[in-house]
Amino acid sequence: MILVTGGAGFIGSHLVPQLVARGHYVRVLDVLSAQIHGMLPSPSLDWLTQTQNVDFRRGSVTSEADLRAALDGVTSVIHLAAETGTGQSMYEIDRYCRENVQGTARLMHLLANGAATTVRRVLLASSRSVYGEGAYVDSDAAETERATRITPASRSAEALRARKWEPTCPETGKALTAVPTREDDRTAPASIYAATKLMQEDLVRIGCDSAGLGHAILRLQNVYGEGQSLNNPYTGILSIFSTRIRRGLELPIFEDGLESRDFVHVSDVAAAFAAAAEAEAAPNTVINVGSGRATSVIDIAKALCRAFNEPENLTVTGQFRLGDIRHNVADVGRLRDRLGLTPQVGLDEGLRRFAQWVSTQPLPEDRLGEANAELAKRKMMG
Ligand SMILES: NC(=O)c1ccc[n+]([C@@H]2O[C@H](COP(=O)([O-])OP(=O)(O)OC[C@H]3O[C@@H](n4cnc5c(N)ncnc54)[C@H](O)[C@@H]3O)[C@@H](O)[C@H]2O)c1
Repeated sequence: MILVTGGAGFIGSHLVPQLVARGHYVRVLDVLSAQIHGMLPSPSLDWLTQTQNVDFRRGSVTSEADLRAALDGVTSVIHLAAETGTGQSMYEIDRYCRENVQGTARLMHLLANGAATTVRRVLLASSRSVYGEGAYVDSDAAETERATRITPASRSAEALRARKWEPTCPETGKALTAVPTREDDRTAPASIYAATKLMQEDLVRIGCDSAGLGHAILRLQNVYGEGQSLNNPYTGILSIFSTRIRRGLELPIFEDGLESRDFVHVSDVAAAFAAAAEAEAAPNTVINVGSGRATSVIDIAKALCRAFNEPENLTVTGQFRLGDIRHNVADVGRLRDRLGLTPQVGLDEGLRRFAQWVSTQPLPEDRLGEANAELAKRKMMG
């Protein structure tokens, strides 16, 4: 039996059915947090309560009693439960540490103290955010294999106000070129959320090593797809944009729109967890899970408009959010070599599926202004 914490969420809603289809019994422990799931009971959770071979328990990973009961008879744990809003984490620090760090600590504490002797492996959903700005090389040396890899610091408010969008070398001030970030590049979290994800990684790696358990830490890039929250304004550029497209509103593009992200379809993420759970030997390492392709925010906005068959109605605003990174693309060599996976869902196909699903959903309020106002009030936006 595989325990999936946070299995009622977006990634869980793809992972759990995929695990069941592959012949596993799955237990889900999920607190059904109001920010993500809204008002309950929700018919959208029928898949969880009515699927054969899924044992759903409502409860929290921060509760020792809930966790202890959920671990009974389990052989692998896939730990997804977390609070996931990067901007929100900067002012709800206590809550983010309690849910993400304390929840993981409680899990590892129980495993270290023999509360579940059947468990053999722990898989963690970590995040590319632990890299901060990610890997760059000196632009003059960008084409050479041996170029020194640099992880620049977060961009300062002054630099962003001066529209200096690209990070520069912390020592020389020279221009840098983003390269695919590898798992052994330096970590440099730039948000409380990212700091909690890195702490989760350390807890799982050290805790599993010392308890003689296998582990894998999957660093997920920008995951998108059917079932992602359309109501939570704190996460997901594609959710926010899709609501605005449906409401005929223009898409405000931050910075100059050339900032980039690695968008990976949720079914490829579910496949990576399934492969890490089923691999004969536990990977015992960190693995990036992404598409391996950088897409600029302008390009993703245009592609999404196309997926909805709507005109491209974009405005590059030059606004910025403190703490946002400039570029992100994952090196996915280890995903291929260790888990035998290459992402299967290309961006056009993934956006087509996403838009088709969104069109079947109730039209949410556009809460972008509200979320931005909150950030502006806290001087986190310019
Ligand atoms: N979606 C992404 O783009 C992305 C990217 C990187 C990493 N991740 C990580 O993947 C994991 C899953 O993300 P998601 O997108 O499915 O998020 P989600 O918010 O849709 O789902 C998280 C689930 O965890 C549950 N949860 C929260 N606190 C809990 C607690 N204390 N006990 C039990 N359940 C709890 C929520 O109710 C929710 O169902 C998270 O750990 C997140 O940090 C996601």
